[in-house]
Amino acid sequence: MLKDKKIVLGVTGGIAAYKAVELLRLYVKVGAEVFVVMTRSAQQFVTPLTFQTLSGNPVHTELFDLFQENEIGHISLADRADLFVVAPATANVVGKVASGIADDLLTTTIMATKAPVLFVPAMNVNMWENPLYRQNEEKLKGFGYRFMEPVSGALACGWEGKGKLPDPSAIFEETLALLAPHDLAGETLLVSAGPTREELDPVRYLSNYSSGKMGYAIARAARQRGARVILVTGPTCLQAPCGVEVHQVRGAGQMHQTILAEQGAASILIKAAAVADYRPAVKADDKIKKNAAETMTLVLEKNPDILAELGQLKGGRILVGFAAETSDLVDNARKKLERKNLDLIVANDVSLPDAGFDVDTNIVRLLFKDGRVEELPRMSKDEVANRLLDRIVELKGQKVEGRR
Ligand code: PMT
Repeated sequence: MLKDKKIVLGVTGGIAAYKAVELLRLYVKVGAEVFVVMTRSAQQFVTPLTFQTLSGNPVHTELFDLFQENEIGHISLADRADLFVVAPATANVVGKVASGIADDLLTTTIMATKAPVLFVPAMNVNMWENPLYRQNEEKLKGFGYRFMEPVSGALACGWEGKGKLPDPSAIFEETLALLAPHDLAGETLLVSAGPTREELDPVRYLSNYSSGKMGYAIARAARQRGARVILVTGPTCLQAPCGVEVHQVRGAGQMHQTILAEQGAASILIKAAAVADYRPAVKADDKIKKNAAETMTLVLEKNPDILAELGQLKGGRILVGFAAETSDLVDNARKKLERKNLDLIVANDVSLPDAGFDVDTNIVRLLFKDGRVEELPRMSKDEVANRLLDRIVELKGQKVEGRR
């Protein structure tokens, strides 16, 4: 989404200025063109050369510098931006823009741009809570400027509390959200992700290789597209996507209970989790000991089929499942679509390299209830997620049309 987009990254004078370097790298990595504007105090913390080297573009610092103004004037910088991100944003810069003061290059370009502007404040907790600052932020929000909340923790000034710059990856995600179509605004998505762990004894479990990447990508993309997202996830090593309500579960039983409790709020349900079909019939209270026998037999009992149950409860809502298959992909997936009363199933041949479990890419076919099949090439899981959401938006539109 950010490829070839022109981002103006405003850096102001706070200790978190060094994190803007990492943010710049994330933008550059996905092909965005970044122009950095630094205030004078920002240059006390990080040198313009660092940003210049990593962005491949001259860094802009002065409003009345003949050379800089000749090369790319500040109005041209404001005009060419698809997006403005100010990170870190000090109380000073927020206060100046809120008061209509444009006395340096950064505030002048912010005032002159028609592009969306995202402020990412970082400051001392008392400054952040100061009614003067709060009023300035609220005023700017009222004019359509976007803000990210600082995170809590130990601040460089010695205080503990809200005021830290969010992780650059979280700012990056928020940037995507700003540019994404908000075609899921008003919808609530329930997404399941990751594996389940079926406990055998206090130290062992049965599970699978699901990393949660596919489900998290869907949750993240849906959030970026304006939806409220409830993510029910088995154990993973992934960071929760920004702004998503996360329910951590372990076994299929817990996933079942949580999904049933949450499903009522959802208008769209997507089950990407790799749920164990069976669990040990008995969970031993103590660690199972090795004995003289050469083999051991485990007795397993069936877990509830959560997706099939949702199929009974779905009413007019959209229900999407995944099918992880190693043979007869389309046939098996279509049977699941019909048996579980789905609108769409993502058929995933998990025997292919670069597809399925624990990789960053996927190769899938989308099978629709009306018989259509859409074959997608190898894509990142983020791209698969967006393609899937595109189709869900279309299905949603068709359902609305059908009711008219
Ligand atoms: O997590 P990643 O590493 O990114 O890997 C992604 C993935 C391979 C896990 C994902 O793309 C995928 O294919 N998920 C579905 C895995 C699976 O359990 O497939 P299945 O064919 O066994 O189940 C069919 C559907 O029924 C799934 O939507 C599953 O969530 C659901 N199910 C299955 C069993 C059960 N007891 N309850 C269920 O709800």
